[in-house]
Amino acid sequence: MTASETVGAPARRPAAPTVFAHLRGGGVSLALDLRTSRPQVLHWGPDLGADVDLPTLATALAPPVARSAPDAPRPRPLVPMPVDGWPMRPAVTGARADGSSWSPDLQLHQRLPTERTGALRLVLADPQAGLSLEVDLVLDAHGILAVDQRLTNTGDTAYRLDLLATVLPLPDVAREILDLTGRWCRERAPQRHPLPMGCWSREGRHGRTGHDAPLLLAVGSPGFSFEHGEVYAVHLAWSGDGVLWAERSPVGRAQLGAGERLGPGEVVLEPGQSYAAPTVLASVSTTGLDGTSAAWHAHVRARPGHPRRPRPVTFNSWEAVYFDHRLDRLCELADRAAAVGAERFVLDDGWFGGRRSEHAGLGDWVVSDEVWPDGLEPLLAHVRGLGMEFGLWVEPEMVNPDSDLYRAHPDWVLGPRDRERQTWRHQLVLDLGRAQVRDLIVERLEALLAAYDIGYLKWDHNRDLLDAAGADGRPGARAATLGAYEVLDRLRDEHPDVEIESCASGGGRVDLGILARTDRVWPSDCLDPVERQHIQRWTGLLLPPELVGAHIGSGRSHTTGRRHGLGLRAATALFGHLGIEWDLTAASASELDQLTQVVAEHRRLRPLLHSGRIRRIDHPDLSALVHGVVATDGSEALFAYVQLTSAATEVCAPVRLTGLDPDRTYRVRRVSLGDDASTHHIAGPAWVDGTEPGPMLTGRALQSAGLALPILRPEHALVLHLRQE
Ligand code: GLA
Repeated sequence: MTASETVGAPARRPAAPTVFAHLRGGGVSLALDLRTSRPQVLHWGPDLGADVDLPTLATALAPPVARSAPDAPRPRPLVPMPVDGWPMRPAVTGARADGSSWSPDLQLHQRLPTERTGALRLVLADPQAGLSLEVDLVLDAHGILAVDQRLTNTGDTAYRLDLLATVLPLPDVAREILDLTGRWCRERAPQRHPLPMGCWSREGRHGRTGHDAPLLLAVGSPGFSFEHGEVYAVHLAWSGDGVLWAERSPVGRAQLGAGERLGPGEVVLEPGQSYAAPTVLASVSTTGLDGTSAAWHAHVRARPGHPRRPRPVTFNSWEAVYFDHRLDRLCELADRAAAVGAERFVLDDGWFGGRRSEHAGLGDWVVSDEVWPDGLEPLLAHVRGLGMEFGLWVEPEMVNPDSDLYRAHPDWVLGPRDRERQTWRHQLVLDLGRAQVRDLIVERLEALLAAYDIGYLKWDHNRDLLDAAGADGRPGARAATLGAYEVLDRLRDEHPDVEIESCASGGGRVDLGILARTDRVWPSDCLDPVERQHIQRWTGLLLPPELVGAHIGSGRSHTTGRRHGLGLRAATALFGHLGIEWDLTAASASELDQLTQVVAEHRRLRPLLHSGRIRRIDHPDLSALVHGVVATDGSEALFAYVQLTSAATEVCAPVRLTGLDPDRTYRVRRVSLGDDASTHHIAGPAWVDGTEPGPMLTGRALQSAGLALPILRPEHALVLHLRQE
């Protein structure tokens, strides 16, 4: 190492023997002090500016020595470990069979060159403990910090790894936690509470991301909201088990951590072997959760694999026909779907093997002669003839005991050899840690993709991995997750034009690990628009709307039994990757007309919806949600006012529409979703009914004074389009 290396902007006065690193991007700084043997984090938070004097900052930030404490100031290491006198969760946990190497002293060994700007690569090593750790840090232009770590066993005996985590410091202002939880049909429900002394830890134990996954674990200034506050958030880009935590200690330190949750003995590194941890990503916002989402959305949109072409309006057959596959019925549905403007037709579960119900057939990925005597070609030709793309449902990681695959290879499933394996939705999980299993899946799917003109796979994963022993009896969830990634990667390499959706009994696999190899997520099996308002709002914390499937279901929700008019169903689905999942042969002519208008509006507005910046207004009346999307150039915006329950007041106070360009003048108009305005509101300004032109106001006025809106009936919504005039 040379004495004056800096990354990013150099310090104003490159002082004597100092080595600092300063990554900057998107209004965020990560400043490291590399002068001592163990790299220290000086600052992770709002940008310090290019001219910050890091040596002086280091001096200014050095804490005093407390009484009854270590005799040197307690540092803030990049990789905190017991050797640092760190009384909180360490970054690396593990040991050798004789108990040694549990407390390595990982000292800075090398700083490797990187091609990327805003990147830093460090190698830390403890030759005596026989461990070396490579840490890759990238802070992108949107302020998202990505951390990749790889631990290598350089010793001569096996090393059992229990955790390799990324641990980031939290400032004192971060005192309130928000993360998400959930279950089937109620994914991504927020929960928040103060960050006490101690540790708030969220552990995934599903072998898949899980319906209750935190998505983001955020810690912010007390009372932070969508529009206000300082928020630090972390995400684990991984589709297996994980642990995310926030921790505060009386020593005056707080931290945010994330890593893969490993089962006992799941990773044992033989000499020379390495473990690569899943990427941990983290954000800093000084403008509330909308600032958080803006950073994540920009990061996600900048990925090379992010879908670029307009998101095709998708018809899905599941809630329309379930397992009742009949060519004539599906062709009729395709006719109706195409007529209302759908661009993709997805044949869901039930087309293969003995799959006439959820009891049989998974694993046998051959078209069923029984229901499709002439194969899928007649349907596919019909769909293609209507100008739509054809998509197919698969669930390749699973097998029903009642299947030819299981009868031939009963040992290819995860689970202990000496106990009965637990079924879930009558299915078992294939052990994708085995090469033969991966090869078989790739071969079967390749055969389908070769035989049929398939543009889209809905890739499902309908159960947890319980008691998931691999072939050697050890925990097998990690190998299965990596196996699934490999299978997806191989298929993507061969078929780059086939889009893939990540579904897992609805939204059980929503994370940036799976999204590195898929094109959208199915956030929930619940199409009830009231539930969906919440599910999509919180899924949007991490994901931009073009990645989130949002379908218009039938008038009566299949999962909640509630009934809603098409207006609310449409106003809800409009804000995602639009789809239809409804038996259109049972829809009335007026419903089909209305749906046609909705699809046309979505297709017209989709460039804005799928590129703009999300806004969620801090609306004081909790009976309603206000959210929208503002074009990145500020020229237009779309807002929804969603009355969930009866309003608390007779009339609602003017609603402030924020995020607009203060100096532009916008014309407001109600977006007609085919419904008669009078059916959804009780009283309102004339422009809402279209009898008068909508108001024309500056962004400044709209966000400072607001706009009076009609009194809406509960479970109704109003969508507004604002365009610069
Ligand atoms: C899961 C999915 C549904 C549907 C069914 C088919 O539950 O979430 O959308 O595809 O499987 O069995």
